[in-house]
Amino acid sequence: MNAAAVESLTSQQARKELKYLVSEIARHNELYHGQDAPEISDGDFDAMKRRKHAIETHFPFLATAAVATDKVGAAPRREFAKINHARPMLSLDNCFTGEDVGDFVDRIRKFLNLSDDVELDFTAEPKIDGLSMSLRYENGRLVSGATRGDGEIGEDVTANIRTIADIPATLPRHLNIPAVLEVRGEVYMSKAEFYRINAELEAAGKEQKANPRNTAAGSLRQLDPSVTAKRKLNFFAYAWGEVSEMPADTQEGMIEFFRACGFKVNPYTRRVSANDLLTLYERVGEDRASLEYDIDGVVYKVNRIDLQERLGFKSTTPRWATAHKYPAERATTVLESIDIQVGRTGALSPVARVTPVNVGGVMVSNITLHNEDYIAGFDAKGVPIRGGKDLRIGDTITIYRAGDVIPQVGDVILEKRPATAEKYRFPTKCPVCDSEAIRGVDKDGKQLSVRRCTGDLVCSNQALETLTHVVAKDCLDIDGLGEKQITYFFNDVDLPVRNVADIFTLPDRDAALGSILKTRPGYKETSVAKLFAAIEARKVIALDRAIFAMGIRQVGSSTSKAIAKHFETWAAVKSAFERIAEGDPEAIADLTQINDLGDAVADAVRSFFSQAGNRAIIEQFTRLVTIKDAVKASSNSPVSGLTIVFTGSFERMSRDEAKAMGERLGAKVAGSVSKKTHIVIAGKDAGGKLAQAKDLGIRTLDEAQWFELIGG
Ligand code: IVH
Repeated sequence: MNAAAVESLTSQQARKELKYLVSEIARHNELYHGQDAPEISDGDFDAMKRRKHAIETHFPFLATAAVATDKVGAAPRREFAKINHARPMLSLDNCFTGEDVGDFVDRIRKFLNLSDDVELDFTAEPKIDGLSMSLRYENGRLVSGATRGDGEIGEDVTANIRTIADIPATLPRHLNIPAVLEVRGEVYMSKAEFYRINAELEAAGKEQKANPRNTAAGSLRQLDPSVTAKRKLNFFAYAWGEVSEMPADTQEGMIEFFRACGFKVNPYTRRVSANDLLTLYERVGEDRASLEYDIDGVVYKVNRIDLQERLGFKSTTPRWATAHKYPAERATTVLESIDIQVGRTGALSPVARVTPVNVGGVMVSNITLHNEDYIAGFDAKGVPIRGGKDLRIGDTITIYRAGDVIPQVGDVILEKRPATAEKYRFPTKCPVCDSEAIRGVDKDGKQLSVRRCTGDLVCSNQALETLTHVVAKDCLDIDGLGEKQITYFFNDVDLPVRNVADIFTLPDRDAALGSILKTRPGYKETSVAKLFAAIEARKVIALDRAIFAMGIRQVGSSTSKAIAKHFETWAAVKSAFERIAEGDPEAIADLTQINDLGDAVADAVRSFFSQAGNRAIIEQFTRLVTIKDAVKASSNSPVSGLTIVFTGSFERMSRDEAKAMGERLGAKVAGSVSKKTHIVIAGKDAGGKLAQAKDLGIRTLDEAQWFELIGG
């Protein structure tokens, strides 16, 4: 991050940044705990929290506004039954440096008023990157398992945790087990299991998981326990909740007791004196990459439980424990090339090919570079990243993986940049089909960070995606031609279907080849006849479905309906689309004001019809089918065929209802006043549009006059 020093912030700036941090921390917290889908690394998240803390320390009068971010985790999901934790499940404070650890020990000594000659023992153990779990045993039997949830109320995942081999269903009788015993610890997934699942997903062509932690969380939160059972999860015991009679008086003793009960406890767990905390931290750190599971730090806990009780808790963290975090795992490598991949939606995604390097136990050779702004050194908001340094082929870069297995670029080492390295030029043509690749704008007119291929129909990477929409129920809806069959024809050499026009030429092409389809596996004479009859039946098609079937991005079912209703005939739609492709502002305005469709639709139409390849396919498609005009609205109403504008607020109807009423009566209801407007109906507090109407000499009506006119 390239943030200004906290000391140099004005209180105004500090307030603004704090507000931003609070909302971002809450958002990332929900993504991580609530949705198991983090967007940033743990390291970045911690950095955000540290920054927030630093601002609060420097500007104490701002601190109260931010309390909400101290809450742990996210509220429980709705689908699971809830379990009230008998004792709250807490979080841990973090230490990042040896100095922080020294402060932690000093704070404890001071709080307990210990003189220098009194020994203070701790336990130290790895901080497992999984999810915390509270297991409740009553009379030695497992009765429930609950996630942390928001710390007070968790999710009841009892059925799921019963499938985890490391969690005993009953505890050995001879051990004098307390009547109530809540064992707490971490459910986690080994790296090996994570890779196995990802390999399976990859083979099935599905999206891979980001990291073991989130995969574990997702597996545990399955509503169907048989799904959980298919994924191997593990458990380490390290803490407790309600316990009717304590079986030991030290942390170490409790861990020993858990081990005797049959739980797995982490083999690195040690009792250490305050002076040896860092030694253990370093030793575990050396082994970190080769461990079978992800860890992100070492947890230190005061060993004596009576001292833990005296020390007690702050709002959500104990005073007697802390997590000493490891920095994200980093490595240095060379950016050898940048490949551009084209996704099924046409997005051009840059991927860095780097000299293979080991980052914390994982070999990395590809790294996502997100988009062209990212390569140029800016984030989605235009804020510099890596201090604004761009990425060039030949650059030496640091890469890191924090909680995530997905590696990221950390920094560019400018001193090592070869003199010949040039600024990377992001392609403006699609590497698959050579069509123009452009950056659109969002509905506020802001340029999008993603560049997309405009060859919607001719680009093989996008064509299949488009076709699956085209054959769906709300579009062509051809019996016997669903996603599975269209994928089959898409890849077929003899009878390829690569675009909407190909669907309608399929019967003739099959006949020309001597009716080969009926000899194919899965097809018989009757099923082929049925399929071709179904295709034939769609050769007469409603205007809205025809527009939808063209596969223009942003133009789905409801947008197509609105466009069809507005233009009524294919000839009118076609001429409007062609004018939009030429950039005719009037045609663009005419389209965007239909139901407030917006610039994104106009943009998509423009880019689609600017491509000769797309135009040729639409030309062919519209010759093959007969497109029915949209049903004409009633023509005997007094406003039929007129363009009307509603403005202000009405008493007898909402604006939406007014609009629907106008359309039902055959009027074109526009969103803004122009020379083409016939009537402006002004409700209460009508402002600019009414004034404009008066200026242009357009007929204006109030609400009562409107109802009088239409006889309502
Ligand atoms: S002790 C009252 N020990 O870290 C203290 N937590 O940031 C309770 N964690 O919610 C936590 N390994 O999910 C403790 N050896 C360990 C841990 C550990 C992982 C997790 C746990 C906790 C979170 C706190």
